[in-house]
Amino acid sequence: MGHHHPMEDSNRSTNHRLETLVSQRISRRAVIKGGSTLGVGMMFGGLGLAGCSETSDAAASLKLGFAAVPKSTADVVTVPAGYTAKPLVSWGDPLFAGGTLPASIHDLTPAQQEAALGDHHDGMYYFGLSAAGLPDRSNSLRGLLAINHEAITEDFTHVKGPTFNNLDAAGRLQAADAAATPPKLDSSRTSSDECLKEMALHGITVVEIEKSVSGYRYVQGGSFNRRITPYTPVLLSGPASGSDLVKTKYDSVGRKARGTLNNCANGFTPWGTYLTCEENWAGYFGQYGTVTPEQARYGLGRHGFQNLRWYTAPDPVGTGDAADLMSRFQLNATGADASADYRNEANTFGYVVEIDPYDPSSTPKKRTALGRFSHEGCWPKAIKGKRLGFYMGDDSKGEYFYKFVTDAIFTGTESRQNDILDNGVLHVAIFNADGTGRWQPLLASDLALGMTAAEIAVHTRVAADRAGATKMDRPEWTAVHPGNGEVYLTLTKNDQRALVATPGKQAVDPANPRAYKDHDGGFSKTGNNNGHVIRIRETSDDPAATTFRWDIYVFGAEADAPTNVNLSGLSDDNDFSSPDGLWFDPRGVLWLQTDDDAYLDETNCMMLAGIPGQLGDGGPITVNNRIDGASAAVVTVAGKKVSADNLRRFLVGPKGSEITGIDMTPDRKALFVNIQHPGELGGFADYRQTGAFVQQSSFNALETVDGQKRARSTTLVITKDDGGEIAL
Ligand code: FEO
Ligand code: CA
Ligand code: CA
Repeated sequence: MGHHHPMEDSNRSTNHRLETLVSQRISRRAVIKGGSTLGVGMMFGGLGLAGCSETSDAAASLKLGFAAVPKSTADVVTVPAGYTAKPLVSWGDPLFAGGTLPASIHDLTPAQQEAALGDHHDGMYYFGLSAAGLPDRSNSLRGLLAINHEAITEDFTHVKGPTFNNLDAAGRLQAADAAATPPKLDSSRTSSDECLKEMALHGITVVEIEKSVSGYRYVQGGSFNRRITPYTPVLLSGPASGSDLVKTKYDSVGRKARGTLNNCANGFTPWGTYLTCEENWAGYFGQYGTVTPEQARYGLGRHGFQNLRWYTAPDPVGTGDAADLMSRFQLNATGADASADYRNEANTFGYVVEIDPYDPSSTPKKRTALGRFSHEGCWPKAIKGKRLGFYMGDDSKGEYFYKFVTDAIFTGTESRQNDILDNGVLHVAIFNADGTGRWQPLLASDLALGMTAAEIAVHTRVAADRAGATKMDRPEWTAVHPGNGEVYLTLTKNDQRALVATPGKQAVDPANPRAYKDHDGGFSKTGNNNGHVIRIRETSDDPAATTFRWDIYVFGAEADAPTNVNLSGLSDDNDFSSPDGLWFDPRGVLWLQTDDDAYLDETNCMMLAGIPGQLGDGGPITVNNRIDGASAAVVTVAGKKVSADNLRRFLVGPKGSEITGIDMTPDRKALFVNIQHPGELGGFADYRQTGAFVQQSSFNALETVDGQKRARSTTLVITKDDGGEIAL
């Protein structure tokens, strides 16, 4: 796994009600099909379903129409025969008139970077534009892509990587730091310019694209083009806004903040705005003072786990929005109160942020009602006449699955300027062993939580601990089936899943039923190494339902894994590890993307297309967990066997890349897919930058000298050579 993407594992709560479970059987009742059909006016998780006439029956008649792409460790993008994948926008591509690409990506200045595509493309959404430049959700010829830039490959960013002083003897940052008495200030960044550029590599891009005679291209100088970075002013809205928890020296009344960070998966709203989700923001903060229990619950500590340490760099001279750009990431309370320092700065990150892509001057709004955690996807389930549901994963080991239900009833006529996401109820999922589950509301009126609405919004994990939520195997993206409204959630992996619970380990349970040893490849991993995809059906298909049924859609595995691991019967045409990105296209094709570290000895990360059926269409699967032949934990769950007919590999990425972020044009003839951090295992051997640059991938690099190429994160556009619809 890439060094950029460490997963903190702060959940030591003892809430799990199933931790002693050794053997559970699901009643047959729990796997009986739901079978309801859709009424007029239902619209699940997507727009443009004219009249919403597509039903699960229609989805069931879909057939995949491409040849499976073989697994590969080659440093190329592979798509099926008859398809072409081309770079559309990449790290460093200039957004505005006059911008140019340098000869090497590391030569970008901070100002150039702020006016160019960022790094580590992640979640993404296509917003159509009419020929006249007005919102037109059905136009495939012109549109805006909103693209998350999650993180950076820091060794690629500067000619010799980031500059630090005061390194320990091994040239590493962490080793000598923690033990010193009194603690020394450790290694520091020496260059504000480096840090500013790193900030500008993060955030969001909105970029105009158009279809020309030679295919899709991006429009440099397009009037909607925009960058949002970790220093762009944003508004805090919802329950945390104005509370003591978010007051800072930047805004002593707690209504404004600066920037968005570690934007991973995404969502959208039916009214045409983009939702970007802040995931590993905690890694950017330091706390030289006392770490509070709430900070610890989010993995905040003396140093961030991203190793960038912006808070150790000198602040550039500036006032207002430009003041304290670096030092605000240091949480130590040094002033008389919260309005005199940045003790609360971390409380202004960790949210779902709503952005109007059609208004380049709009101020992003952090929707604190949707909770604060390591946000992954935020996908809506929208049915006219009902409240909206937004489904969200908290991607850390043993964290939870959330749903936000709006107070507002969905009409389909909402304007883009509204505050619907400020009012509603956050819920957290509790999975029962019998295939049912319930959504526990997190309410200030719940005396068992003992928290105000602002505290629930900011310290959401603490509230969810008290609510008894089910600890999951790293909840990532969510997707809503456009036909039957079922909600899918990727659980990417969890090396802390074990046969029995111990401090820091979660015992297998029916919803997270696997703990085993990787059988080959020398990784010696234990736990849920390959991940799985769970799906739920809301009671009465209501987004506001407080109960649901669930089963397992598919278990990740290597095709040659033992049958107690390869539980879904994966073959060479569709075996995968660590599902992460997840998206239903408007036809009901499920797209599954991987961010893997367990199968890289045999294949780079990949994307698959599936026709997943519906909840209950599998049967009981007995999970016979073994680690080193030791004690077994047998769990029986409702799950599914898949075949190459209904799940098939569509793409394999270049070396060292993760496949993440996807959308398609409304005509379904162009697919946009992100290649994140190709070559990320390259770079310098240590933080002294004394060694040579080691190149892992040359994918879409600017540099011409082999061995020196720094591969670039890229949005691909994939089309079918005969001009037809993708995948079918
Ligand atoms: Fe950024 Fe959890 O993937
Ligand atoms: Ca193998
Ligand atoms: Ca990931």
